[in-house]
Amino acid sequence: MARRWLVPGGLGFIGSAFVRLVLREHPGVAVTVLDAMTYAANAANVAEVAADPRYRFVKGDIADAAAVDDAVGDGVEAIVNFAAETHVDRSILDPEAFIRTDVVGTHVLLEAVRRHGIARFLHVSTDEVYGDVEHGASTESDSVRPRSPYAASKAGGDLLVLAYFATFGTPVLITRGSNTYGPFQYPEKLIPLFVTNLLEGTQVPVYGDGLQVRDWLYVDDHARGIAHVLEHGACGDVYNLGGGNSRTNLEITKELVRLTGRDWDASVRHVTDRAGHDRRYALDASKARALGWSPRVDFANGLAETVEWYRAREEWWRPIKSGEFRDYYRRQYALR
Ligand code: DAU
Repeated sequence: MARRWLVPGGLGFIGSAFVRLVLREHPGVAVTVLDAMTYAANAANVAEVAADPRYRFVKGDIADAAAVDDAVGDGVEAIVNFAAETHVDRSILDPEAFIRTDVVGTHVLLEAVRRHGIARFLHVSTDEVYGDVEHGASTESDSVRPRSPYAASKAGGDLLVLAYFATFGTPVLITRGSNTYGPFQYPEKLIPLFVTNLLEGTQVPVYGDGLQVRDWLYVDDHARGIAHVLEHGACGDVYNLGGGNSRTNLEITKELVRLTGRDWDASVRHVTDRAGHDRRYALDASKARALGWSPRVDFANGLAETVEWYRAREEWWRPIKSGEFRDYYRRQYALR
């Protein structure tokens, strides 16, 4: 019988890449996705594996203990938690949902791990918990200094996870990933927003001077890193998963304008900066590398393939951009 992993948030961007990867490359593992189906979830993200007999879907919220209990059922060996509110700009407009899912939801999952005696709980986190990094790169022993409501809610979840290890010996692991890009990313984030705006022939809003720095990681490399840490990591430990591709937002924008064949002056608009905008993130990923993981996808190729994916998959993103997204976009960008 296959081992079963519960994947909260498996219909989102990184979660669905993980589900596709596991069902493709781990024949002995079955997957139950638990997903609240909020705005960023999409059943189409797992369409290619939905008919696999090892795949099961349960609709539910990680902050709802009864829903989590139902999904855990008998015999879940591990929980890999992707469920989260993840967009910094939304956390500035409406922090409450972030605290409910990223803090309370994480606590509910930790309690389920204890109650059901689940062997491993991997909590997917982010480099944003380290805050703005002026020089050098964050290591796992650095303290967390979150600066946005989103980053603070993720840091709160991380601290609970580590406290459960210290207090109860709960078998936990944390991964902290850098900025992730690739197919199926909801078009509120920098790369899919800019690619789809450029493909539509509308302008792209660069915050402030555009010289903020992010480190980019291809989504399949991120998913593979999480699977690797789940199988080989030490309980109680944190592992940074960094792409090693530091770029300013202007460099990214320039490449996307080129790849979509647009004109810079007609397409790029500098707008009011994000409140509390972190200038730079940088991760030291040597601990995960020593464990045997490293990213495989070259950044130039990954970015070009991502643009081609959005060009070929208009039927995936056009309905998203015409729905709830339109109100969000107006709220977020109208006054900038
Ligand atoms: O670092 C990991 C984090 O990366 C994840 O934990 C978050 O879930 C994910 O959203 C991302 O956070 P960022 O705030 O770095 O990502 P975002 O795509 O929103 O923005 C990337 C950079 O681009 C950031 O400096 C803000 C800038 N930006 C973003 C948007 C949406 C713009 O200049 N214009 C925009 O319209």
